[in-house]
Amino acid sequence: MTADLTEAAIAILRANDRGGYTVPTSSGLYPAQWNWDSCLVALGFATFDEDRAWAEIETLFGGQWPDGMLPHILFHGDDSSYFPNTAIWQAGPGGRTSGITQPPVAATVVRQLFERFGVERSRPHVRALAPKLLAWHRWFYSARDPEGTGLAAIIHPWESGMDNSPVWDAALAAVEPGPSVAHLRKDTGFADAAVRPTSAEYDRYINLVLTFRAAGYRADRLYGIAPFRVADIGFNAILQRANRDLRFLLDVIDDRAGTAEVDRMIARTRAALEGCWDEADGFYYSRDTRTGEVIRKPGIGGLLPLYADPAAAERHPALVARLERWLEQVEVAVPSFEPGRPDFEPRRYWRGPVWLVVNWMILDGLRRAGRRDLAARIRRDSIGVVARSGFREYFDPITGEGLGGTDFSWTAAMVLLLAGLED
Ligand code: DGY
Repeated sequence: MTADLTEAAIAILRANDRGGYTVPTSSGLYPAQWNWDSCLVALGFATFDEDRAWAEIETLFGGQWPDGMLPHILFHGDDSSYFPNTAIWQAGPGGRTSGITQPPVAATVVRQLFERFGVERSRPHVRALAPKLLAWHRWFYSARDPEGTGLAAIIHPWESGMDNSPVWDAALAAVEPGPSVAHLRKDTGFADAAVRPTSAEYDRYINLVLTFRAAGYRADRLYGIAPFRVADIGFNAILQRANRDLRFLLDVIDDRAGTAEVDRMIARTRAALEGCWDEADGFYYSRDTRTGEVIRKPGIGGLLPLYADPAAAERHPALVARLERWLEQVEVAVPSFEPGRPDFEPRRYWRGPVWLVVNWMILDGLRRAGRRDLAARIRRDSIGVVARSGFREYFDPITGEGLGGTDFSWTAAMVLLLAGLED
């Protein structure tokens, strides 16, 4: 890894810094603060600017709803170049947020900052953030798992962070499209339409937003009325990892009641995640909780139980073997959907392209599972593809071509993080 790449990554984070929060890209595609982007970007700042890393998370929690939900977007400034913006969402205190959430990586990131900066410097931040994190996790179990299954439901593909994964196709097709919004889209003005979700998907994405808006975004109503409702294996694996990290943080501040509460979350979700393992197929699957059907599509979320709990690698050697087979078929690890499948599209957003943030999660699980060889391949590919194709939003796993937005914050952050690891 050359010093040039590190310098370029730092320059991107500095350029995308809007003062206390970072936009995902300066190109205009995403002119606001995104929840999981922001948390993962803090891991990049942590390598060169401690205060800025904490500020990223603290700004994000400034947008937390009174019921504990942490929105997927906080709009801080001019949002006219983004669709759907505040005029469509009309959500949150002051009308400055979206009305849905995103994968809960925050507790994991806060623990990473704590471990990097040490107890003395981190404890005041942990003291302020841990109760907010607990409120968010509690919200997942009350608002999104009222039936006590141990899995939190997502009610919009955007909540998964993997917007147009083939895993959501059938559940999304069952949603009414609503009025066509193709002419209102802004994203296709910044990135080639062929690498973005389709307009048929967008019409449904927006109709879901309008349905939730009409229900006043009331958490006690949305679960029951949501026309799209999925127990996403990737999302719940991220939640479970965050539960473990939150438990650690609550322990740091001696919150006994909090640790006991999170222990109960962990126990419930541990059993439920194992219930998603399909022995015959050797993979973890999501479930459509409206129809009760298992969604037998191998998306990258199905590998994330490794990140939740590295013991998954020992329990299910077939899972790691499956990942190895995926990697044999691509130039750049890790494709976001199983290569060779009819639904696999190597250039279209979450239907095949490589995303460095998910690479980091899988690599982290593999390292902790003792598979440093495989982790090293993922690390090498991740840094190599950026060196070749730039700090793009995502990459074609077959050709290594860079796709989507340019000078991308979380790609820069992951390069900084991965560069600091030893194989
Ligand atoms: C987008 O606008 O593409 C985002 O992924 C939705 O939050």
